Amino acid sequence: MSITSKEIRQKYLDFFSEQGHSIIGSAPLVPDNDPTVLFTTAGMHPLVPYLLGETHPAGVRIANYQKCIRTGDIEEVGDRWHLTFFEMLGNWSLGDYFKEEAISMSWEFLTSEKWLNIPIDRLRVSVFEGDDDAPRDEEAASLWKDLGMPAEQIYYFPKSENWWGPAGETGPCGPDTEMFYDTGLADCSPGCDPSCSCGKYVEIWNDVFMQYNKQSDGTYPPLEQKNVDTGMGLERIVAVLNGKKEVYTTDLFKPLMDKISALTVNHEDTSKEIIADHIRAATFIIADGVSPSNMDQGYVLRRLLRRAMRHGRKLGIGDFFLEDLAKIVVDQYSEFYPELEKNKSEIYVEIVGEEEKFAKTLRDGEKQFAKITKHLKANDTMPGEQAFHLFDTYGFPLEITKELASEKGIVVDEDGFDEFYKQHQELSRAGAKKRFKGGLADASWETIRGHTATHLLQSALRVVLGEHVLQKGSNITPERLRFDFSHPDKMTEEQIKATEDLVNEKIQEGIDVHYEIMSIQDALDMGAIGLFDDKYAEKVKVYIMGEFSKEFCGGPHVNNTKEVGKFRIVKEKASSSGVRRIKAVVEEA
Ligand code: SER
Repeated sequence: MSITSKEIRQKYLDFFSEQGHSIIGSAPLVPDNDPTVLFTTAGMHPLVPYLLGETHPAGVRIANYQKCIRTGDIEEVGDRWHLTFFEMLGNWSLGDYFKEEAISMSWEFLTSEKWLNIPIDRLRVSVFEGDDDAPRDEEAASLWKDLGMPAEQIYYFPKSENWWGPAGETGPCGPDTEMFYDTGLADCSPGCDPSCSCGKYVEIWNDVFMQYNKQSDGTYPPLEQKNVDTGMGLERIVAVLNGKKEVYTTDLFKPLMDKISALTVNHEDTSKEIIADHIRAATFIIADGVSPSNMDQGYVLRRLLRRAMRHGRKLGIGDFFLEDLAKIVVDQYSEFYPELEKNKSEIYVEIVGEEEKFAKTLRDGEKQFAKITKHLKANDTMPGEQAFHLFDTYGFPLEITKELASEKGIVVDEDGFDEFYKQHQELSRAGAKKRFKGGLADASWETIRGHTATHLLQSALRVVLGEHVLQKGSNITPERLRFDFSHPDKMTEEQIKATEDLVNEKIQEGIDVHYEIMSIQDALDMGAIGLFDDKYAEKVKVYIMGEFSKEFCGGPHVNNTKEVGKFRIVKEKASSSGVRRIKAVVEEA
């Protein structure tokens, strides 16, 4: 059987449209308004407010393909199934259908001749075995059996395997049922089952029954609304349906892998795969507005580009080859992600710029590494301080130090590195590293107030400075809000005061905050502002505060501006060229 990735994406959207789902576009890789996580890690991520009960403009049944980044998997790249960047096909029920329909839709899509037509004997499923927090999921198991899944192909696993979420410490989560494809390889050992990572079984889909809201004290009270969140990794399903034993030989990677192979006679293919994975991820990350740097998303991007370059050198490819690879990604994916074509010049400029910087860094850093390790032999430990010195002074990422060290059998003292990292970096940099683990949108009351204040701030800036002011970025924590906006000059003291006063005046007026769901045209006609680029959306949600503020937004917000409290601008400074940044706080009135 041969089926293209494009056909599979389309079949998925068609199937779920037929089942009454609205198709929505992919959200950006960098989550808006979510300071707890650097990247969108799953299709459910941008939907957290709706899983918690906000109304989604597209309704209660939704499906899409979503671009995702999982940096936790960087080390596993090269194992044939884990990727840094991947696309996730997903369908959601926001308080609508639950287990029975979710499982029967999954079954139909996987096995029906009209859709994926996977033979039943190739499938395995797992369900939650139960513990003190939630019961054994006999319901899911018997639903599978009723549909025709043989009992011996159903497995019961604990929370470590059959539970999803919360993505951070707290938030929506629940037991799941996972679907696996048997690649036909022999069992690796007598106990080999779908939870084994030997490669015989590949997880292809996950239906999560999101019915708990994990609290910071470790308890699992029920969510008000029972949701379904499903995710099917596109690269994996394309691979298994075409009889491939890895993702890199699918049509999604072929143009890149062919190009990389043409650049080298070296057949050490883990390096080729690492390069292919990293350049694909990097191209998408830059398209969403990130530049290489030593902080947050920029740091991940830098690591990806630099690791790709180092593997290029390992294969004997010159220092400058990534732009050509990025062009392949742009050509291949723009049909599905138009932001690539739109931002292609920035993509190429950033990549070449980083290649130039890194070529110099590598030359200097490798010399230094050789000096530091001259007296070390296999099994020796490189002190954390020296690894940190390479990072801090030579821009040599820890990851690369570790790789070079492991080639000589040397171990790097990572805990020691972390100590120095913490001591020497500003808090924000240390914080960024912690946040790589991921998390969920924070829906605390303080953050919600900050969110409403952010809308008021944008409108006030447009009154005080002019209508050229538009949001360029927003980041809200319970402690403060940060708002980036287009404006060429430093704001004067008077302008800052006028903005602050206007926001406080609108808070004092006690304006009712509500949303309306309408067509994009109606929203534009009523003067709604905000970031909006979902190519599939028919209806949008607009938050309205009288005549003063109308913005495309998912929520949540306070009910009345009075609840915001008192608004105070703490700082105004440049963010990047033509973009200013305001930091502000909301306090009890
Ligand atoms: N959130 C679940 C996952 O990432 C299902 O979409 O697997």
